[in-house]
Order: sequence, then structure tokens, then C-alpha cells
Amino acid sequence: MQRITPAPCKLQNEKPTNGRKLAQTHNNKTFRLSWYLIPTHALRRKLCNHWLSARGGRVEQQSNRRISRGHSTQGHREDQMEESPLYRRLHLLGLLALSYLVLKQVWNLLIGIKTHILSRWWKTDLKKKYGGWAVVTGATDGIGKAYAMELARRGFDVVLISRNVEKLQKVAQQIEKQSGRKTKIIQVDFTGGSEIYPKVEKALKGLDIGILVNNVGMTYHPTANRFLEVPDINKVSSTLLYYILYIVFQMTRIVLPRMVVRKKGLIINLSSLAGNRPYPTTTMYGATKAFVDFFSRSLYYEYRSDGITVQSVLPHLVSTNMTFNLDTNVLVKTSEDYVLEALNTVGYSHRTNGCLSHCFQSYILDHLLTETVMNSRICVTMASRILSLLFKIMKVNKSR
Ligand SMILES: NC(=O)c1ccc[n+]([C@@H]2O[C@H](COP(=O)([O-])OP(=O)(O)OC[C@H]3O[C@@H](n4cnc5c(N)ncnc54)[C@H](OP(=O)(O)O)[C@@H]3O)[C@@H](O)[C@H]2O)c1
Repeated sequence: MQRITPAPCKLQNEKPTNGRKLAQTHNNKTFRLSWYLIPTHALRRKLCNHWLSARGGRVEQQSNRRISRGHSTQGHREDQMEESPLYRRLHLLGLLALSYLVLKQVWNLLIGIKTHILSRWWKTDLKKKYGGWAVVTGATDGIGKAYAMELARRGFDVVLISRNVEKLQKVAQQIEKQSGRKTKIIQVDFTGGSEIYPKVEKALKGLDIGILVNNVGMTYHPTANRFLEVPDINKVSSTLLYYILYIVFQMTRIVLPRMVVRKKGLIINLSSLAGNRPYPTTTMYGATKAFVDFFSRSLYYEYRSDGITVQSVLPHLVSTNMTFNLDTNVLVKTSEDYVLEALNTVGYSHRTNGCLSHCFQSYILDHLLTETVMNSRICVTMASRILSLLFKIMKVNKSR
């Protein structure tokens, strides 16, 4: 039987430069792992030297055994590769890319904590910063009503705009009783076309407006439908699409000039999760909300030097008439809770999901349930079924 004579250990004779080889020769898992985790070449080399002197002859035997099995050529190549400048640069590039990704996530986390948690204690004093009246469209129900009530609580006199005069009067009385602030009601149907805006303009004339909440919104059908299956699509496209976009343009046109003169003002525009990226079966609604979001962001950059803040708010599910008064839970907020948190984000973010829960949901959607996953064929086909199932799980109470 041929006896294998151990070759002299290169690592011990020539000073080890190749950590990988040493790691390969070792059974010690911790050592192997630590080699892969040590970031710089110099550090690894130091560790090898240290380890080698500690392990002494055992390392030599194991190393020799491997070399005698024919690993020496490969080891030599690896030595050369690790010493090459290209390898070092790629190594550095990898480290930089990894650091960038980690830093980006940490930064996002810090921004999220600042916007949704710290803002509860260090909220912007809206009255002091913007002053005057607050104007809220669609102020008799849901999110709009919650904005009107909360702004009054924070010291604003409020102009309420909606279709139904009884509901308007009821909300106005509620505000005056609870907050002792002044109110003014404007009864208009926003689907009335361009003729309604002179009336709105006249009613708002002379008021010192600090805040405008462009909240009014409409859906076209209670269930999810593909584009051609939307009932009465002709009517829907002319009312929903045209008027939603027109309301935001016109209300901004009416209110902004005075704000520019005052050198301060806040415009809050209600967009939606559906406007953040495409969702099948909410095509038209999503498109209008994408418009609102894009318009708000552009306007913010145009007018921030004039002291105007434009905030785009993209809620997920809030329990209102529009969402059939879904039962609330960790994902679905009440309109009051939602608005309380959303108003705290003013001054911290000009584009927000409004509350911590919705912000977290957005993070999951953006990073796990990405557009490609959500819009895969199977998801598109199943979309309406999934939605109706979701509504069932959340115990939709249509009678409320
Ligand atoms: N709820 C959600 O989960 C959710 C999610 C994302 C985005 N959003 C957005 O948030 C905004 C508010 O939604 P919401 O859920 O609070 O809606 P909502 O509960 O249905 O309230 C809509 C409000 O708008 C008024 N309104 C409706 N049509 C009008 C018209 N043609 N002219 C004048 N006023 C009209 C209604 O008052 P009258 O009936 O008295 O006129 C009501 O005050 C919308 O822009 C919506 O797209 C909501």
C-alpha cells in the first residue's frame, strides 16, 4: 500500500494568504462561517495567521492531506484570484452595494418612525402655521367629515361642501357644539359641471383660507369589474373621470391664489392605494387617483417655495359608506382614527399613506406582493373572487 507523504504546508511555510483554503481544510464550522463573514482581505489574512499558530500541526496535517488529494492547483488559482486587483475591486463594490441597501432600509425605517410615531408627540401646530379657515369637500360623511371635525378641534373655522343640505347643517351644528368654531356650508353637486364653480368661488370670497381638503370622491360600482363589464360605462366615464379630475383642478384654482399671496397654505388631496400602482378591476378609479397623486406631487414642488404645502394622501381601507362600512380591525381604520394620524403627518411628509397600519401594508405590498406578483395572470383572473371573499371575511355590513 502506497503511503502518502504529507507535503510541506504552504500556509505555514509561506505565511497564509488564502483564507478560503484554510477554511476548506477545516471541519470547524464556526471558523468556516467566520471566514465568509469577515469583510476585508487583510482581516482574513490576520485571522488565518492567528488561527494557524493556534492550531499548529493539526492544520498542517489536514492541509497536506487536501493538497495530496490534488487540490493544490485549484487552491493556487484561488490564491491568485483573491490577490488580483479586479477581485478586490469587485469585493469592494459588493460591500458598497450591500451597505447601500442596508442603509436605505434603515433610512426608510427612521423616516417611518418619525412620520408615524414621533409625529404623535411633535405634531405641527396647523393653526399657527396656516391659520384662517379650512375648506373641506365631501364633508358630510366618512373621511371628509372626520377632517372637518378634527380641523375644527385644532382651532379652524370650517367651510363644509357637499350635496345634501340637511347633512351639511347637521355636521355644522355638531362642529359648533363640540369645538365652538364657526362654520359655513356650501351646497353643491360636483357632478353639476363647470357652472357650479362660480357659486363656490363667490361663497369663498373674502375668507382667509389656510387649508383646503380635496376629499370628495366617487366610486362607480360596488363590486370589482373589468373595464368593459362596468355597468353603464358611458355615464361612468363622463361623470367619474371628468368630474373627479375637474374638482381637484377647480378647487385648487379657486383657493391657491390667496394662499400664494399669504405665503402660506396647505392643500390635502385624497388619492388612494389604488392610485399607487395598477390594480385590475379598479382601472378607472385607480387612474383618477393616480392623477390626483401625480398632480399633488407636481404642485408641491412648484409651490413649496411660496410657503404652500401640498400633501397627497393614499389611504388603504377606511370604514366609510364607500367601503360599505367594513368592520374595523388592524388593517381597516375608522375615519376618525385615520384622520387623526393623517393630520399628524403634515409637515413630515408630502406623500403619505396616512397612518402607521396603512404605511406598513404599503411596505409589504411594495416589497413582497409586488406589481408583478399581484398582476400575474392567476391573480388577475381571481381578482374579483378574492375581493368578494375579502369583503365576506371582513363582514361587510351593508345595512349600516
Ligand atoms: N374609504 C376608503 O377606504 C378610501 C380609500 C382610499 C381613498 N379614499 C378616498 O377618500 C375620499 C373620501 O372617501 P369616503 O370613503 O370618505 O367617501 P364617503 O364616505 O362615501 O363620503 C363621500 C362624501 O362626498 C360627498 N359627495 C359624494 N358625491 C358628491 C357630489 N357629487 N357632490 C358633492 N359631494 C359629494 C358625500 O356627501 P353627500 O352625500 O352629502 O353629498 C360625502 O360627504 C374619496 O376621495 C375616496 O376616493 C377612500
